[in-house]
Amino acid sequence: MPATSNSRRLFGLTVRQNAHPDMRKLRREAGDPSLHGNKFWKSSCLMMDYLQRNPLKKGARVLDLGCGWGLGGIFCAKHFDAKVTGLDADPSVFPFLQYHAELNEVAVKTWRCFYEKVRKQDLAGFDAVIGTDICFWDKLEEPLYNLTRRAMQAGVGRVVLADPGRSPFRRLAARAEDKLDATYREWQVSRPMKATGCLMIAGQR
Ligand SMILES: C[S@@+](CC[C@H](N)C(=O)[O-])C[C@H]1O[C@@H](n2cnc3c(N)ncnc32)[C@H](O)[C@@H]1O
Repeated sequence: MPATSNSRRLFGLTVRQNAHPDMRKLRREAGDPSLHGNKFWKSSCLMMDYLQRNPLKKGARVLDLGCGWGLGGIFCAKHFDAKVTGLDADPSVFPFLQYHAELNEVAVKTWRCFYEKVRKQDLAGFDAVIGTDICFWDKLEEPLYNLTRRAMQAGVGRVVLADPGRSPFRRLAARAEDKLDATYREWQVSRPMKATGCLMIAGQR
């Protein structure tokens, strides 16, 4: 796809750039997302690369935390036929998610919710929980650590979080490694774009 189309191909998905006319139109209609869900963040590439190498079971029920434009979940729907729910506190991200789901010919449900409000019984309905670039403020470390712990208690098979390596995420991952038997590792991707950071994987190794 030519660069002038303001689109990218990433891990089998088509992703619009912010300058694409459709994204401009959505911003005019839906408003600008206010909690940094205003674009596709590169940590999604770390997640997609990890999942390509460590696939989910076909039809897995997936919760995508802080989904923003929802590319991590859309990847799961496209490649694993996953039943995906994109969760975000900011509902103005959902039109961007639905646009990309349709563009990539999958369906994704949305759920407006804060991390701290997700209950154990909600989590029991998922096989996997994913999240990319969601632990970017100090105050997000605690709710996301607690959510990971609740997910493990609820029997979720795998929680995978990807991040460019911000300090709140590193603290969360180190803590999960220590207390929840999670794995915390550096990860990098060179194609189709460069991305570096780290992953926290709780549950299946
Ligand atoms: C940096 S963006 C990442 C978006 C997407 N995961 C990606 O990688 O492209 C962070 C997302 O987390 C959401 N968010 C921030 N705080 C939240 C909270 N407490 N509960 C739920 N979602 C939250 C924001 O609205 C935003 O969409």
